[in-house]
Amino acid sequence: MPTLPDRLHAEGPAVSPVVWGCMRIREQFADAGAVARFLGGLLDLGITAIDSADIYGDYEAERALGAGLRALGPSARQFTIVGKGGIALTSPGNRPDHQVKHYHGGPERLAAVVDRTLADLGVERLAAFLVHRPDWLADPRQTAEALDRLIDGGKIAAAGVSNHSTGQLTTLASLRRHPVVTNQIELSVRRRAPLTDGTLDQAIVHGFRPMIWSPVGGGRLLSPQAEADRRLVAALTEVASAYGLAGPAEAAVAWVVRHPSRPVPILGSGKLDRLRAGLEAAQTRLDRQDWYRLWQAAAGQEVD
Ligand SMILES: NC(=O)c1ccc[n+]([C@@H]2O[C@H](COP(=O)([O-])OP(=O)(O)OC[C@H]3O[C@@H](n4cnc5c(N)ncnc54)[C@H](OP(=O)(O)O)[C@@H]3O)[C@@H](O)[C@H]2O)c1
Repeated sequence: MPTLPDRLHAEGPAVSPVVWGCMRIREQFADAGAVARFLGGLLDLGITAIDSADIYGDYEAERALGAGLRALGPSARQFTIVGKGGIALTSPGNRPDHQVKHYHGGPERLAAVVDRTLADLGVERLAAFLVHRPDWLADPRQTAEALDRLIDGGKIAAAGVSNHSTGQLTTLASLRRHPVVTNQIELSVRRRAPLTDGTLDQAIVHGFRPMIWSPVGGGRLLSPQAEADRRLVAALTEVASAYGLAGPAEAAVAWVVRHPSRPVPILGSGKLDRLRAGLEAAQTRLDRQDWYRLWQAAAGQEVD
């Protein structure tokens, strides 16, 4: 049986054990100098992959990231950047023509998003570009052709998807000349559907590692209110302490990466200490029974 690569896919980019997500960059950093200092810190930690999307920060995150990369200087070239496009947000300031939030995966739109992302980031090529959400009005034959053409034209090195069902991914992959190199999805001990709906199994069959957003499960675990969440946090805290991890958030990351599809967690913290702890968690292998112990704490029942 072939082992899965350390890359996202044999034809996709190599990625660090944790990817930093820049969605909150504008709230987190005051100026390009602060971004550059943070990016330098990421490189020191060994976090060399960044996840982005045109819509982040009301369409301004990529410009902020680009300014930080330029301020960092030549070492900025060490970063692997994954971009996304295909969602249209209402934004009176930046996209006045968007009257309603919608998806737009048409070929011209995807090409225009890539051009804009490259300009905002100040780079010549993206390591990968993902269709952020499936656009129900886009013909998958045209989407497939648009992605392949972006690769052939040298603007992106690889292409994949995000938030796609197994059926949508199978269709797109069957229409493409180049492989789908990842599916970026939500997975956490609180959101376990990808374990049972075939999403993670499909990643193994297609030879890619899924990228995972919200691996900790969001605010509900960071400040639990409901009794069920408090029980789960108590179980995560026990596991964290048994493995010498910083806390429940890190145990949740270790839970996600234990799946054989070798998920790659995306963390959005702007604090290097948290990212260091997350990196350690992403390299921790939970014992099978501890993994199921957390599954049970989250599900509120033992497996059938
Ligand atoms: N494909 C998609 O549809 C999709 C959807 C959502 C997100 N994403 C990607 O995933 C990335 C991460 O998303 P996210 O920002 O929601 O991720 P996250 O890592 O789940 O959350 C980050 C936020 O939680 C806070 N935080 C993290 N650890 C904490 C802790 N232990 N205690 C208290 N607060 C903590 C951070 O604050 P500090 O900065 O103060 O640490 C930050 O505000 C995004 O940047 C984006 O790249 C993709």
